[in-house]
Amino acid sequence: MERPSNRSYALRGNRPTRAQALAMKTHWSNFSLQVESELEINDVFPDAKEVILEIGSGMGEATAQIADHFPETGFVAVEMHNPGLGALLMLVIEKKLKNIKLIREDATHLLNNFIPDNSIDAVHLFFPDPWPKNRQHKRRIVQDAFVELIASKLKPDGYIHIASDWQPYTDWIKARFERNQRFSGGVIKRPDWRPISKFEGQALKKAHTVTDLKYKKLK
Ligand SMILES: C[S@@+](CC[C@H](N)C(=O)[O-])C[C@H]1O[C@@H](n2cnc3c(N)ncnc32)[C@H](O)[C@@H]1O
Repeated sequence: MERPSNRSYALRGNRPTRAQALAMKTHWSNFSLQVESELEINDVFPDAKEVILEIGSGMGEATAQIADHFPETGFVAVEMHNPGLGALLMLVIEKKLKNIKLIREDATHLLNNFIPDNSIDAVHLFFPDPWPKNRQHKRRIVQDAFVELIASKLKPDGYIHIASDWQPYTDWIKARFERNQRFSGGVIKRPDWRPISKFEGQALKKAHTVTDLKYKKLK
């Protein structure tokens, strides 16, 4: 079936390893959400202190460690990349995590079509693809419309935490949040609980500066 054109992300390198495929086959139905109608993510973990939507969990190492560290918080990870979803699922099983659910979807599509306004406690967006070339900038997930979308979906006082290792993209993200009147915030100290994923490790080896940003939605 052809995918609707309003998805912002094109699939690439989407073949899981055997272990990832086996994890998907065995455990996907228990740990995933098939979203076909409105989704209140707080209802996914009714006893959780807060529920965080993670956009682009990648291979899931950071997601799994953070979820392990905060057992009273619920995490809904949205990712389109099958190997990444399989890898996260393997970690969920290995660490016996009860506070993660996975969604295979384009986050922008999910937010636009299924998540009610003013319903999300917090969003994590760690190392979004930087699309460094000028002609690729339109592919960056953080655009003015995305910032506005996040503003609509967060609860008042809800926040988005972003990490980026590509300074020009960090500046781009800052500029877009600063000109949106519905947020306040900026650079924060790297929190101790955010582990270094393989992806971030590679960035640090290249001597990239990693910046954490946090923007709170104004009431
Ligand atoms: C550079 S990786 C970072 C992964 C992970 N957050 C980390 O820190 O290692 C960016 C991830 O975002 C995912 N991604 C990009 N656009 C997306 C979208 N619109 N919806 C969901 N995931 C997306 C990609 O598949 C990729 O796994």
